Amino acid sequence: MKPDTKFLNYIMKQKNWWLPFMVIFVISIVGLLFIAYQTYEEAPPIPHYVDEKGEEIITQEQILRGQEVFHRYALMEYGSMFGDGALRGPDFTAQALNERAKSMFRFYQESLNENGSRSEFESEGILRKVQKEIKENTYDENNNQVNISFAQVAAIRDLEGFYQEMFLNPDFHEAFKPTGYISDPTEIKDLSAFFFWGSWVCSVERPGEKYSYTHNWPYDEFAGNVATPSTLIWSIVGLLGLVLGLGIVLYYYGQFEQLSEEYYAKGASEMVTEEKLQQYKPTPTQRATFKFFYVAVILFLIQVLAGVLTVHDFVGFTKFFGWDIQEVLPVTISRSWHVQLSLFWISACWVGISFFILPLLAKSEPKGQLFLINLLFGIFFVMVGGSFVGIFMGPMGMLGDYSRWLGHQGWEFVELGRLYQYFLLAIFALWAIIVYRGVKNTLRPGMPWGLPNWLVYSIVCILLLLLSGFVARPETNFVIADFWRWMVVHMWVEAFFEVFTTIIVGYMMVMMGLVNRQAVVKVVYIAALLFLGSGLLGISHNFYWNAKPVGTLALGSVFSTLQVVPLILLTLEAWRMQRMPYLLSTKQKERHRSSLFAMPGVFLFIIGVTFWNFFGAGVFGLIINLPIANYYEHGTYLTVNHGHAALMGVYGNLSIAAILFALRFLLKPEAWNTQLVKTAFWSINIGLLLMVTLDLFPAGIHQLVAVMEEGYWFARSQEFIQSVPFQAMTWLRIVGGAVFCIGGLFPLTWFVLKSAKHLKPAYEMEKIDHHLEEVEEEIETV
Ligand code: HEM
Ligand SMILES: [Fe+2]
Repeated sequence: MKPDTKFLNYIMKQKNWWLPFMVIFVISIVGLLFIAYQTYEEAPPIPHYVDEKGEEIITQEQILRGQEVFHRYALMEYGSMFGDGALRGPDFTAQALNERAKSMFRFYQESLNENGSRSEFESEGILRKVQKEIKENTYDENNNQVNISFAQVAAIRDLEGFYQEMFLNPDFHEAFKPTGYISDPTEIKDLSAFFFWGSWVCSVERPGEKYSYTHNWPYDEFAGNVATPSTLIWSIVGLLGLVLGLGIVLYYYGQFEQLSEEYYAKGASEMVTEEKLQQYKPTPTQRATFKFFYVAVILFLIQVLAGVLTVHDFVGFTKFFGWDIQEVLPVTISRSWHVQLSLFWISACWVGISFFILPLLAKSEPKGQLFLINLLFGIFFVMVGGSFVGIFMGPMGMLGDYSRWLGHQGWEFVELGRLYQYFLLAIFALWAIIVYRGVKNTLRPGMPWGLPNWLVYSIVCILLLLLSGFVARPETNFVIADFWRWMVVHMWVEAFFEVFTTIIVGYMMVMMGLVNRQAVVKVVYIAALLFLGSGLLGISHNFYWNAKPVGTLALGSVFSTLQVVPLILLTLEAWRMQRMPYLLSTKQKERHRSSLFAMPGVFLFIIGVTFWNFFGAGVFGLIINLPIANYYEHGTYLTVNHGHAALMGVYGNLSIAAILFALRFLLKPEAWNTQLVKTAFWSINIGLLLMVTLDLFPAGIHQLVAVMEEGYWFARSQEFIQSVPFQAMTWLRIVGGAVFCIGGLFPLTWFVLKSAKHLKPAYEMEKIDHHLEEVEEEIETV
């Protein structure tokens, strides 16, 4: 069929694909360089603080020591800095700011009191003075020094007392449990200097501007922090960009409707039927991928259990049979496992599935692949085991000075010890090498857009981004280091993983016989264009408040709002996708062929990926994405809500689809359990939905209201976390969690582990009379 619009004619020709791609890439790279430049150039200083008599109160070295303590004890897994981190405890920057303002207020009040009574006018006047003093930037670049008033000095002393109480006094209203987690008073003092610095960055005016380094984030009217005009203006522009962008993309996209269903299904290989699966003979490397899936489900199980333990801490339900798990396993550690293992098991599945499809693609197996795959698995195993133990031993003080290397680096999402991060680098490099070797003979010169090419490109990009994780050092300014952390985290999940997902889903659909390869190549191209075009610069939505100037805010607002566009397109695709097995089976029936589609379970999980991509990433991402919304929302349960719905919803479902897809080929047909797989799908997804709707989303809205009414510091205080409504919602998480685990996670784990006994033997490639070849012949004759 020949398309009859200019646009379709253009886009159907691969030689035309270079231009749009290069334009987007160049814009994104230039934009990123600009953000990186601003990150360094406009970073807040780490100064010495000197009082009116010239005495040094806090030194730069002390702040950096405090930062090191913060990381060593993994406090980012308890509370947050600049809103980045965990939500069990306070946001340390917001807390220190509010405590500081209150102390200064008391200081001036008391000094007035000595001279007699005080009127309401005087109180208001004091507050104005405090706010003015907090905003005033006395930074002197020449000697890297900030002059502070005696009121500020008093506030610093109070802050030190506050944090001593937090870690040493179990009855303190903001007590950290277990008491004595940090017991050295000097370390606590350094820590409070670090928090003081954070609060200074949040409140003092950026040189030459009327707002703080963080655009007056966090919201705290008492301390004088309220939203800036540009926060609102760029939100409006962002919204404008979204509607405009969506309109343009939909206009062009609508033209694809001209392509009939025939176009997508024509020439697709046959559906994977029961019969074919029975005959399928796995190759040695395919057989070798099973262990990735085996380990992945074990990690999935541990990851979820670590999450359950973490939630126990929220509701203060930590004593079992007389002993307190908090003492043995502080919440910082269980949360670190929960976060880090999620990335590990998901990666294991992706590595596994990409190896699994190599022989299907290339129909050959280069020598040495099996060895390399097993080698990669070996390194992975050591990395996972080592970092799992290290994450426990580091913060518990068992590794001394080696903690950063062998224990815990202290960054949310990059918890693993530095040494294991190098292991991870080796793993990713090996991954790229193996995939490249696997597809090498299918790569054709002059045909850069094939699916195998995409597979290689996205893995190489994921690998390159991992390098970003190595730039920051312990003494790097926190806001600069955080830039590099997001270069790994955001770029992975919102840009290259999305592309990778489209590729893998595309492959699975081709191999299930649902669509033809040509159609998938186009979908991947367009998806990559849109995901990268919006997602690369979209990274700036993670930088609204960690001390970047307005340019970054502006870019973030516009581009990250556009990230929703490809997700909306996916929902258009979903309709077509959902009907595919049905359409094809009808056709098969017409041809009097067996019509039993053998992958309904896997297909369900893929539909799940699409659903959550729209709902978890798109909808829940969008509601927190505009700067003005994010200003109040950042670091609340609405972020957690989005994080869970997107990460488990999209990549969790995809990983399970990958496991099941491979297992369907690897397993003897009689060992398959369709019912279990379907039940697992519905349990996991309904469980996730219940967790989101009964707890995370309403708790997020409740917390948002608290931010807007009382200030951010309050919405993160123990008073709020321990309040009845918040606790009640947290308890409600049991409902969703139970459905998720009992009907989904547990049976699925059991099924995969049990599968080890029912695998088909492996067959050497050459000896296999491959059914795919027959199918290929058939396609050629179509
Ligand atoms: C499957 C794709 C996505 C995944 C897996 C994902 C996951 C995440 C995760 C894990 C975080 C960090 C949460 C934390 O720090 O605790 C995050 C933050 C964020 N994401 Fe996404 N995301 C995805 C897509 C999107 C999209 C499409 C948007 C925009 C429409 C978006 C907007 C945001 C924003 C604004 C934040 C920062 C929230 C804050 O800290 O205030 N995300 N995302
Ligand atoms: Fe992001």
